[in-house]
Amino acid sequence: MERLSFDSGVGVSCPDAGKRIFDCGQEVEFEMAPMEGITTYIYRSTYEKYYGGIACYYTPFLASMHLSSREKNDVLPEHNEGMRLIPQILSNRTEEFLEIAGALKDYGYTCVNLNLGCPSGTVAAKHRGAGFLAVPQELDAFLAEIFEKSPLNISIKTRIGVNDEAEWEQILKIYEKYPVAELIVHTRLQQDFYKYPARMDAFGAAKRLCVPLCYNGDIHSPEAYRALLFAYPDMERVMLGRGLIANPELIEELGGTPRRDKDRLRGFLSDICDRYIGEMSGGDRNTLYKMKEIWVYLGDLFEDAGKYVKKIKKATRLTEYEAAMDALFAACSLR
Ligand SMILES: Cc1cc2nc3c(=O)[nH]c(=O)nc-3n(C[C@H](O)[C@H](O)[C@H](O)COP(=O)(O)O)c2cc1C
Repeated sequence: MERLSFDSGVGVSCPDAGKRIFDCGQEVEFEMAPMEGITTYIYRSTYEKYYGGIACYYTPFLASMHLSSREKNDVLPEHNEGMRLIPQILSNRTEEFLEIAGALKDYGYTCVNLNLGCPSGTVAAKHRGAGFLAVPQELDAFLAEIFEKSPLNISIKTRIGVNDEAEWEQILKIYEKYPVAELIVHTRLQQDFYKYPARMDAFGAAKRLCVPLCYNGDIHSPEAYRALLFAYPDMERVMLGRGLIANPELIEELGGTPRRDKDRLRGFLSDICDRYIGEMSGGDRNTLYKMKEIWVYLGDLFEDAGKYVKKIKKATRLTEYEAAMDALFAACSLR
């Protein structure tokens, strides 16, 4: 099969998504992992404004046949200007997948991502997400139909199996049959959930597929990134998830130019919070909930911030949250 070029999704978005970081002469593009509840359009577009350096963003999974208003907001072109965005679908039903893909086409998208990685017990039990990998014949039939009928190019984000790494070979044999626009490999089994370390070695087997590849899993530090490039010197794309939420400067740090810029971080967080206040109903409660989800990851970025982060997590009003943030930023430096 001819090697596909990486034009996976641009649709509504970015003419200039090719921001790159050079390491050991190798050009690597970074993608922001979809994270349900966190990487909303508000988070993504504010990230782009303050940090950038992302070649491609993904929406968290869309799972309703008729997009909910939250999902519509997430994919609206005017909410995603200037960025390359690929919407992600979680489904194991052809009709549902095609319906959502059709709606996304109407918004101007050209590529969609299929979620074959969600490890959640309830999702996997219904053979969706990573649970779909448990029924390879059904998965194959589903892929045959969507690749034939989808109005959009299809990229795939996958785990490497359900229970055992030995499954990976059979899964790759299935993917090999289709013109996958990009294969993002999260090198964990469904049963690993997030508890066990990523199995970086498994990535190598995917290299025989003639499709653009992207590595995902546990690249949270320069050390992990160096180990990845050492193992795969020709790596072209890396997707960053929790590490990027925990340290929005991660890409600069991986490129050897961390700024440790507290003012920028403060502006970034305030901007996100203000936008949630402006766009969410439900008063303080819902906005606080969204901000606290970010703080689950962000707290460790500061030196000795334990007691301040605790206050942030305990805040029940936005005024308390703001005061706790002020105290943290005044007292703690960035690691
Ligand atoms: C809270 C949370 C929500 C996530 N939501 C999604 C999602 O909607 N779609 C998806 O493909 N992966 C989702 N993931 C998985 C991440 O995209 C990523 O594959 C995983 O975190 C491993 O990468 P990392 O080690 O860089 O974080 C989620 C992970 C977390 C922790």
